[in-house]
Amino acid sequence: MAELRPESLERITTKEAALAFIDQQTEEIRAQVGDGKVLLALSGGVDSSVVAALLIKAIGKNFTAVHVNHGLLRKGEPEQVVDVFKNQLGANIVYVDAVDRFLDKLAGVSDPEQKRKIIGKEFIDVFAEEARKLEGISFLAQGTIYPDILESEGVKSHHNVGGLPEDLNFELVEPVKFLYKDEVRLVGLALGLPQSMVYRQPFPGPGLGVRCVGAITRDRLEAVRESDAVLREEFELAGLAGKVWQYFTVVPPFTSTGIKDGKRTDEWPVIIRAVNSVDATSATIEEIPYGVLYKIRDRILSEVSGVNRVLYDISNKPVATIEWE
Ligand code: XMP
Repeated sequence: MAELRPESLERITTKEAALAFIDQQTEEIRAQVGDGKVLLALSGGVDSSVVAALLIKAIGKNFTAVHVNHGLLRKGEPEQVVDVFKNQLGANIVYVDAVDRFLDKLAGVSDPEQKRKIIGKEFIDVFAEEARKLEGISFLAQGTIYPDILESEGVKSHHNVGGLPEDLNFELVEPVKFLYKDEVRLVGLALGLPQSMVYRQPFPGPGLGVRCVGAITRDRLEAVRESDAVLREEFELAGLAGKVWQYFTVVPPFTSTGIKDGKRTDEWPVIIRAVNSVDATSATIEEIPYGVLYKIRDRILSEVSGVNRVLYDISNKPVATIEWE
């Protein structure tokens, strides 16, 4: 049976309620961990970011966050995590550049589930190695939220967080485990986290790895990352960023012919995906104005290497899924 949200916890809908929750959790975290040291895997997603900010407030230097850059993050994300948590909030951050390690393990692997497994396992391995290097950690903080608990009975195959090895037997600290996503966001804002972090669109654990369809190569992965950055910038400018539920680009592992400077080319297409959904079980496409699409097309074709076509995926879920693999 899933642990149920206490009835005494009222829905958090205002800044005042979020501040009261922060005060109460700060006390509870201190009561739970005392002088103990707490570790967290900080992805930069809203849930782990809010937990990190709560722990910094509650226990300061007894808290350490490990940020693993697996090379499949969006453009600017690792930099933002370090900037917000280390430079602005003064946290202990261990930044691990594991890009080569992940991409070497993924080389030549085209099966999507196999890719997910490799990314999930490598993540645990890197995190466990870092945890062993640190002295005296007794607690592991996690950004579990209430829907995770409610869904945990029917665990989704794409949830790739596995358990840590047995020698790392930490007690869990889960300060937002009874909150819904909208409440976590309000708490994040009240803690002073940037809007761009708090209102991030859903981003899969394997990151850009599932958008670089088939066997990942570094050059095609860069085409995914750069085209995604263009799409995000143009969605911001067009006022679509806060409106569309999830939007990203995909680069499939095949080329088509094109023409550049009078010469024939064989380059990849970039596929734009922009969907609206409530809970990801079904989704409909966004009607993007043609003017916005043209601007995105022009920028991708002039700024992103290796690309000669831009396509817009107009498929709803079902029959298509949101991601391409
Ligand atoms: P699909 O593609 O199944 O995606 O329609 C539904 C939602 O789940 C996200 N997604 C993932 N999230 N690990 C995750 O944490 C994964 O492997 C994964 N695959 C898909 C997807 O982005 C969408 O929001």
